[in-house]
This record gives sequence, structure tokens and C-alpha cells, in this order.
Amino acid sequence: MKLDRIMPSVYIKTYGCQMNERDSEQVAAMFLAGGYRLTDSDAQADVVLINTCSVREKAELKALGKMGMLCSQAEEKPWAVFGLMGCMVQSRARELFEEIPRLDVVTGTHCYHRVFSICDALLKQRMANLPPAPLREGAHISQVEDLPDAHTRIRDHLPARSSCSAFVSIMQGCEMHCSYCIVPFTRGGERSRPATDIMDEVKRLVDTGVKEVTLLGQIVNRYGRDEAIVDGRGAFVRLLEALHDIEGLERMRFTSPHPIGFHDDLVRAFSYLPKLCSHIHFPMQSGSDRILKLMRRPYRQEKYMELCAAMRSARPDLAITTDIIVGFPGETQEDYLLTKAAVKKVEFDNAFIFQYSPRRGTPAAEMPGQICLREKEARNHDLLETVNRIAIARNNALVGTRQTILVEGPSKTNPNRLQGRTSQNKPVIIEKGDAQIGTLVPVTICECTGFTLYGAV
Ligand code: SAH
Ligand code: SF4
Ligand code: F3S
Repeated sequence: MKLDRIMPSVYIKTYGCQMNERDSEQVAAMFLAGGYRLTDSDAQADVVLINTCSVREKAELKALGKMGMLCSQAEEKPWAVFGLMGCMVQSRARELFEEIPRLDVVTGTHCYHRVFSICDALLKQRMANLPPAPLREGAHISQVEDLPDAHTRIRDHLPARSSCSAFVSIMQGCEMHCSYCIVPFTRGGERSRPATDIMDEVKRLVDTGVKEVTLLGQIVNRYGRDEAIVDGRGAFVRLLEALHDIEGLERMRFTSPHPIGFHDDLVRAFSYLPKLCSHIHFPMQSGSDRILKLMRRPYRQEKYMELCAAMRSARPDLAITTDIIVGFPGETQEDYLLTKAAVKKVEFDNAFIFQYSPRRGTPAAEMPGQICLREKEARNHDLLETVNRIAIARNNALVGTRQTILVEGPSKTNPNRLQGRTSQNKPVIIEKGDAQIGTLVPVTICECTGFTLYGAV
């Protein structure tokens, strides 16, 4: 293998949530600006990066396994730089160097802006045949606020990604400390970006052809919660209103909201902001008040149900999806059945079900009544069946309806077709030639095969 000295390449693999995807885009943009090209080939890449997630043990093991595999290619390209970044690094930087000897760089969530300069310096050093001096950058604890945004249209360099939809981070961190969750440790305290910065970023994205933005935050509705309420509207709703006025922006989404701080103004927003999509990902976690309390989730079932009902009356076609943890310490069969009953009551359009995974340093990991793997799996399996049955029924109910889809690109399963998403965030397949990528088109849903909808323009 040869090193391309003129235009070295970088490969970035991302695990975890949209925050990580967005951070990876930012890192990719810096490499592009520095004269690198992005590659989908890990074997060829001169700089190999993995952006890691710590939220469950499985996510960590996947990233470690992948990095181990990638480092095994190192003999073919001794100059290559291998780096881990993101949430897992923030919580266990030092061990990682011990576990993976070939690793060169680790950078935590607070210093991903430095990934480029560190890796580039190291690669140049190796290109110049200087004595190897692995740079061991630990997780920086200093809080680095937002960087100039990823102006460069990274998506244009990665054809697999949609270029008409973009993530925009509006806040960082979380200080909720749900008893099971590692995120407050990996991403630090909550801080909101100034609204003017967000507006500027969205305007620039729209100028490059973006039609849909998804606003990101761990508790996105807590955005700007120290700011005054103006005419009954908090900072988050005022931000939605301001974004709504941007010409050329067609759709807005946000993730993830939390029942805490979910006030009437946000419920009402669904009734008068047509660009706000008819979908909300609204993590419930459990249907048992006793478990919610142990989870340190500061709401009860009744409140969650009231909010779902209120949002649905503000926007009758609203799709609701959720996150649920099964097998939380102390969860009895009765608690589990309450969760199952709640799933049936809300009729979620879909739900991510997670088996509780103990995270080091979190209170739940030390709680009595840890549930065995077999029981967690059984509950997961049982709940998944209910979730899927409801999800398929809700999809089937769309057959014959008219929906507007944003056409995002070729279908993942059949490149001869196009894929778009409805306002409810449901993927719809249409024939190629029926519409242009990046446009909103009305379709009639003519068929549903479980999770896939087919539309005719
Ligand atoms: N900030 C969001 C959640 C972000 S983490 C919120 O509070 O709604 C994404 C999801 O991972 C969570 O909703 C939860 O369901 C799941 N999760 C977090 N920690 C977990 C753990 N230790 N074990 C299993 N699932 C977990
Ligand atoms: Fe984790 Fe809770 Fe914060 Fe969500 S709100 S990121 S689950 S601590
Ligand atoms: Fe994972 Fe970090 Fe997101 S732990 S879920 S990538 S905030």
C-alpha cells in the first residue's frame, strides 16, 4: 500500500446517537478543509477514526472490536494514524491505550475540535520519517463550546448520506443524572448555544440546499431555560418560531424531548407551526411509576400520557416513537407488564427497546435486584413483539392516504428506486424518475410491507 502525500485520506466510523454523527461531520469537515479526502475504505485510509458511544456495554464492545480489527491492518500501512474519539474516551481514556497498543490518539467529547490537528501532525511526522512518537492525548475536561460549523458540505463527499437533511446541535451536555445513564459524565453539563448562532448555521445550510433540520439536544426542550418567558413562550418555542420564518427551510424536527419542562407552549407549537413535522421521539423509559422513580426520571405515567394526548389533539396525525429500558434493577414482572400496557395505550409508531446495561459510576449499577440476562432478553423479546405489531398496524393504516415526502436519495435496498420520508418520519419507496432528490413531493401510499411503505407520485 502507498501513502498519497498530496491528498491523504481519512476514514471515520460513528457509533451512538445523532450528537456523535454531528460531531463526526464536524471532524470530517476539518479534515476536508485541511486537504484530506474522506474514504469509505478503512483498509486504505491513512487516518482511521472511530467516534465511540458509551451508553450501553454493547456499544463499547462494538467500537473496541472494530478498532482492534482496523489496527490489525496496520502492518500494511505503518504510517497510518489510529484514533478513538467521543463518549467512551471521555470515560476511560487511559485504559484504552492499554487495551489497544497500536492506538495513537484518543480525544474526548470536549476536544473533538483538536482531532484534526493532532492526527495531521502525527501523520506528517510519520511521512517525514521522524522517529515514531505516539501522541497520547487524554480526554480533556475543559469545556469547549461550539466550533465554527461544518460549512463544508461533508454530505457531498459521502454519497450515502442525504444532502437535504441536516443535524443542528442547539445545546450540549446533560445534568439530569438519570440513575442508569452515563451521558452526563461523557458530555458534561448542560449548555445552550446562542439563538443567533443557530439561526446563522441553519440559514447557511438552507443556502446549500438543506430542506430539513433536526435540532439536537439531550433534553432539547430545556434549550435556553434560563431565559425569560416572552408572551407565554419559552426560549425553545421562540427558537422554533424564528427558524420557521427562514425561507427555503421546509421541515423542522427535534430530538430528544423530555417530559420535564415540556410546557403548554411546546404542545401548542404543533398546532401553528406547519413546518414542524408530525413526529416526536419521546422517551418514556418505563410504564411503572415505581421504576421511573428509581430511574430518577422526574415524571409519572399519568403526566407522560397527558402530554401524548395533548400533543395528539394539537396535531392529530402525530407519530410518537419512544425509548424503553427493560430489566432495570428491581423491575418486577408487574412493573414490566405496566410498561407493556403503556405501550399498548399510547400505540407508539415505533419504540427502541434497550436491555438495561450497568454503567460504571452510575447509581443504578450498584442497586440491588439486578435482573439476569435471560429475564432481560425475555422481556425485550416479548415487548418487541407488541411494539412491532402496533407499528405495522399503524403503517398499514397509511395505505391509501396522501403524504408529502422529502426525497432523500436512492433506496438502500434497491438503487433503482428512491427513498423519502413522510412528515411522520416513515420511509417511503418510490420509483426512480418520479421525483428529484431534495424535493418535497406528494405521494399516495399504495402498499405497506411491514416497515416499508411504497408510494406513487
Ligand atoms: N437524553 C435522552 C436519552 C439519551 S440516551 C433522554 O433522556 O430521553 C438514549 C437512550 O438510551 C435512553 O433513552 C435510554 O432508553 C437508553 N439508555 C441510556 N442508558 C442506558 C443503560 N444504562 N442501559 C440501557 N439503556 C440505556
Ligand atoms: Fe441520560 Fe437522563 Fe440526561 Fe437523557 S436525561 S441523557 S437519559 S441523564
Ligand atoms: Fe452514546 Fe454519547 Fe450519544 S454515550 S448515546 S454517543 S451522547
